[in-house]
Amino acid sequence: MIANHFTDMKIIRTVSEMQHHADELRKDKTIGFVPTMGYLHEGHLALVKAAKILADVVVVSIFVNPIQFGPSEDLSRYPRDFERDAKLLDEEKTDIIFYPDDGEMYEKAFSTYVEVKKLEDHLCGKTRAGHFTGVATVVTKLFNIVKPHYAVFGQKDYQQLTVIERMVRDLNQDVKIIPHPTIREADGLAMSSRNTYLSSEERRKALFISASLRKAEEMFSSGIRDAGEIRKAVNTILHTEDGIDVEYIDICDAMTLEDISTLEKKAVLAIACRVGKTRLIDNTILTEALQ
Ligand code: PAJ
Repeated sequence: MIANHFTDMKIIRTVSEMQHHADELRKDKTIGFVPTMGYLHEGHLALVKAAKILADVVVVSIFVNPIQFGPSEDLSRYPRDFERDAKLLDEEKTDIIFYPDDGEMYEKAFSTYVEVKKLEDHLCGKTRAGHFTGVATVVTKLFNIVKPHYAVFGQKDYQQLTVIERMVRDLNQDVKIIPHPTIREADGLAMSSRNTYLSSEERRKALFISASLRKAEEMFSSGIRDAGEIRKAVNTILHTEDGIDVEYIDICDAMTLEDISTLEKKAVLAIACRVGKTRLIDNTILTEALQ
């Protein structure tokens, strides 16, 4: 049983109660939604603030979605602290936390999945088989449960955002997706619940990731359009010291996520690497607007 010490914030644990509330709210209010896996940081809270500006009522879900983790990934050790999350969300004047357990979201006989083809073939999809199907499936379920008018997603997970935007268009889901820029620590490290896994030495090394993105932006601003040249400079920075194991440095079309060799249209530079055992991702959008 989760104690609710909060006077104005509701904590809802069942699908039927959440759906009932959503129906009541939708009679005269707009609903803004921020799906999360909890262990909240300023990045998540920025999304909540954006949702508050857009909508009358803000719902945040906290659910560590088992079907988006591969067998060798960090599901069992994914950080969790509901009490702390609830306090932070109360301070942001969140109206409802939807906090279901695994059984509430996935019956034993569960067997329906949402697969966003093609976009899954690039970037993280190459090594995280089934991950984006897990994400698209849970987000569809959450949209059906929370019934939001707006849903805010971070650009930190650029491929996830692209997959969700494609899914909403393809399936005519009645929700507007709002992208939110990446929130960083003062020294540049993109905020992530997984940063908590880093030792202080690993955290220091992780700064090469954001430093390499800034270098790429500078190169782009100075007129360089050769993707190979930018990749090479990023790779050099990531290998300044031992300890960063690069999974990919990809420069791709911002819509299709297909690799490009010349930066003509809106492009994304995306990086995934391991620092120690921790997998980190980050990205930057390279467009003429940067000029
Ligand atoms: P989670 O990693 O908890 O992230 C929840 C939301 O916060 C996502 O939209 C993510 O892009 C955003 N976010 C995380 N770090 C951010 C940062 N530094 N700046 C801005 N936004 C940031 O992403 C998921 O959970 C799950 O895959 C989910 C969508 C909830 C489905 O299970």
